[in-house]
Amino acid sequence: MASISLSKINKKYDNDVLAVNNVDLKINNHEFMVLVGPSGCGKTSVLRILAGLEDCCSGEVYIGNKLVNNTPPKDRDVAMVFQNYALYPHMSVYDNIAFGLKVREAGGLLQRVLHPKKYHDKIESIDKRVQDVSKLLSINHLLSRRPYQLSGGQKQRVALARAIVRKPKLFLMDEPLSNLDASLRLQTRTEIIKLHRKLGITTLYVTHDQIEAMTMGDRIVIMNQGEVQQCDTPENIYRFPKNKFVAGFIGYPPMNFLDATIEVKGKHVTISCTDFVLSLHQNFSLKEKILKVVKEGKTSVILGIRPESVHDNCAALGSWPTENNCFDAVVDAVEPLGAQNIIFLSTGKYQLVSTIDSSVKIKKGESRNFYINLDAIHLFDKETEESLLETSIETV
Ligand SMILES: Nc1ncnc2c1ncn2[C@@H]1O[C@H](COP(=O)(O)OP(=O)(O)OP(=O)(O)O)[C@@H](O)[C@H]1O
Ligand SMILES: [Mg+2]
Repeated sequence: MASISLSKINKKYDNDVLAVNNVDLKINNHEFMVLVGPSGCGKTSVLRILAGLEDCCSGEVYIGNKLVNNTPPKDRDVAMVFQNYALYPHMSVYDNIAFGLKVREAGGLLQRVLHPKKYHDKIESIDKRVQDVSKLLSINHLLSRRPYQLSGGQKQRVALARAIVRKPKLFLMDEPLSNLDASLRLQTRTEIIKLHRKLGITTLYVTHDQIEAMTMGDRIVIMNQGEVQQCDTPENIYRFPKNKFVAGFIGYPPMNFLDATIEVKGKHVTISCTDFVLSLHQNFSLKEKILKVVKEGKTSVILGIRPESVHDNCAALGSWPTENNCFDAVVDAVEPLGAQNIIFLSTGKYQLVSTIDSSVKIKKGESRNFYINLDAIHLFDKETEESLLETSIETV
């Protein structure tokens, strides 16, 4: 097991595509780090550079304290699990799991002839490891089958077993669950996390599914267009996104973004969005933060509001709603999700999305009053799209 460090990694392919742009990333020993981002953002390239399957153009790759830029893949002690399982079709499940170990640790025919006792002992210990890992992953009853006789989920577990049995320093997993149906995906996700808790092997897990990232990662690193956007705990990424990209990428339905203007008149601070005005006179800490933004000369901003921060005023409980953060809207559509409904609202210039408990009966076409939880709003710079509100992130 080892920590990982990528320092200023760049990768340009022959076709001039800059797939990885100045990436810095540190993964702690035993950590489960999830790398997430849209298709083509460079996730697989980062993984392949770590595994040694691809050279970087510049930068340094460390596994533990060792610089491995010039270390071939077989000597990096890294196990990779791919989306397509990559099982040997002509071998049994047992041989698929044991094959790599036998080649690497027991040696070939020559060893068998020259050192029969040593070879035999090694094969016995490999057998024990294969049996143990098969039990761990509940595939011990499938060991004599061929891959074509397995379901997708079973193939996935064989691929995992083959990686785990090596006891590598580092696991690299590239969208390993994307071929599975929704319920099997959920189940295997939980199994991978349980396994990680048991084995503690440092893991970099790639996905483009933000729910997988949020539920699995000790920390999440978000990439876009070859660059790291933010690396932090799931909670901090959700609560304090560093920029508009991260804010829009994490969270479902995505955050609402509205053009807004901050206005200061004497003691009154407001955020105005054409169709409605948010007044901050009762929210002192937010007011302080926003006055700092104004001092930096930023008055024309992007207001970010998560759908779960837009509430229905008629069903309001407690003391949230005041005349300062309410607005009228027409309900354009209601999409039931079960426990919650996604409500599409129109305020005139803007369309907003809200998620509201399905016990609140809201109908398409209705005009209703909604309110915004001011404590959970976000502001972004119009030019750089960086977050403007101070964040109190405690990084791990
Ligand atoms: N061998 C290659 N030669 C040229 N360009 C490549 C090569 N491999 C990847 N790319 C390009 O590099 C960029 C990053 O690709 P990469 O496979 O790392 O993305 P990804 O984030 O894994 O995407 P996905 O989610 O679709 O798997 C893409 O623009 C891709 O087209
Ligand atoms: Mg990929």
